[in-house]
Amino acid sequence: MTTLADTWGIHKAQFWIRGQVPDEPVRFAPELGMWNVYGYPETLRILGDPGLFSSNTLRLVPDIRRSTEGNLVQMDPPEHKKLRNLVSHAFTPKVVADLEPRIARLTHELLDAVDGRDRMELVADLAYPLPVIVIAELLGVPSGDRDTFKQWVDKMLENSTQFSLVNRSEEQERRLQVALEQSKLLTDYLGEHAAERRRKPREDLLTKLVEAEVDGDRLTETEVANFANVLLIAGHITTTMLLGNTVLCLDTNPEQKARVRADRSLVPAAIEESLRFFSPFAALGRATTSAVELGGKTIPADQLLMVWIAAANRDPRQFTNPDVFDVSRDPNPHVAFGRGIHFCIGAPLARLEGRVALNILMDRFPGLRMDPEAPPDFIPSPNMTGVRKLPLLLR
Ligand code: HEM
Repeated sequence: MTTLADTWGIHKAQFWIRGQVPDEPVRFAPELGMWNVYGYPETLRILGDPGLFSSNTLRLVPDIRRSTEGNLVQMDPPEHKKLRNLVSHAFTPKVVADLEPRIARLTHELLDAVDGRDRMELVADLAYPLPVIVIAELLGVPSGDRDTFKQWVDKMLENSTQFSLVNRSEEQERRLQVALEQSKLLTDYLGEHAAERRRKPREDLLTKLVEAEVDGDRLTETEVANFANVLLIAGHITTTMLLGNTVLCLDTNPEQKARVRADRSLVPAAIEESLRFFSPFAALGRATTSAVELGGKTIPADQLLMVWIAAANRDPRQFTNPDVFDVSRDPNPHVAFGRGIHFCIGAPLARLEGRVALNILMDRFPGLRMDPEAPPDFIPSPNMTGVRKLPLLLR
C-alpha cells in the first residue's frame, strides 16, 4: 500500500512512519552487519551507559580515514566532558534567551521578502536561512557564505546511504567518498577562519575555541575545525527540519492547528510533539565495548548499533497512540534530543528558534497552508526525517 510517507519520499528504512511496529525492539541486520535498536527502554539503557555503549563508532569502520579529534559526538568520557565544557556555557537557557530579539528580527526580515506573494517555499525562504544565520553568527563565520555551506551539506545528505559493514559495494564507497569530501571542504573552510582568529581574536565562539585550554594545552587546529564543523552542521540542519516538520504536522492535523493558532501557549508543546512524531535526527550510532544483554538478545563486544530514536519515540510501550500527533500529550518524554552525557547542547536554541519562527509565521499569515498541488519532499537520507521542500500558500 502506498502511504503518505512514500508519496513524500521518506526513506524506506523508516517503517514506523508507515504505521508498522517493529516485531522486536533489538534486531541484528545481517545485510548491514550491525544491530538495529527500535525500543524506548532499550534506547534509554544505551544512552545512559556510555561505558558499555561508546560513541566512538568510527573505530569499527577502520577504512574511513577521518580524524575524529575534536568531534564531540564521537567522544567518550573523560575527554568528552572536557571538550563539552568549553562550549556548554554558550548555549545555556539564559544565554540563548538573550538571542530572542535577534531571532525575531531575522525571522521578520526573511518573511518581509515573501510578503505580497501568494506562496512561499518554507525551507528556502525561512527554515534553512534562519538557523544557519544564527549559528554562523555565534561561531563567527560570514553568514553570507551560507549558500556555499548548503551545497556541501546537501551533497553530504544526498550521499548518505544505509551503510553496510559487510556489503561494501562500489556504489556505497563512492557515496561515502563524496560525503567525506564535502565534510572536508567544510572543515578546511572552518580551519581557515580559526587560523584567522588566532591572529585576530574577536568576540565569537571560534575565538573561544582557539584560545581554550584543556589540561593546560590549546586545542590543535584539527580539533578546533572538527568541533566547529559539528556545531555548524548540528546547529542548522536539524532545526531546519524541525521548523518544516512542525508546519507540516500542524497542517495535516487541522484541528490541532486551529487549537495552536487560538492558544499560542500551546506552541512549545506543538514543537515537542513534532520532535517526537518526526524526529529530525532519526538514528544515533553506538559501539558495544563488551558483550551485553539487550532486548532479549546477546550482543557481542565491538558491534555497531543504530539506535533509532525516531522509532523509540513511537514505542507503544511508552507513548499512548504513538501514531497520533497530539499537542496536548503530557508528559512527552521523547528522546529526539538524545539523553545523558551527549544530550543536545543546542536544544534550548532549537526550541527558541522553533517557538519564535512559528509564532511569527502564524501572526503574519493567517491563511498559511500547504499547497495541494505541490506536495512536500523529504530529505532522502535513512538517518534523517525532515522536509527539504514545503511549498505553502500564503492567502
Ligand atoms: C531540532 C534541532 C536539533 C535536534 C533534533 C538535535 C538532536 C541532537 C541529538 C539527538 C544529539 C545527541 C547525539 C548523540 O547522543 O550521539 C545532539 C547532540 C548535539 N547537538 Fe543537537 N540537535 C538539534 C539542534 C542543535 C543545535 C541548534 C545545535 C547548535 C548549537 C546542536 C548542537 C549539538 C551538539 C554540539 C551535540 C553534541 C553533544 C555531545 O556530543 O555532547 N544541536 N543533537
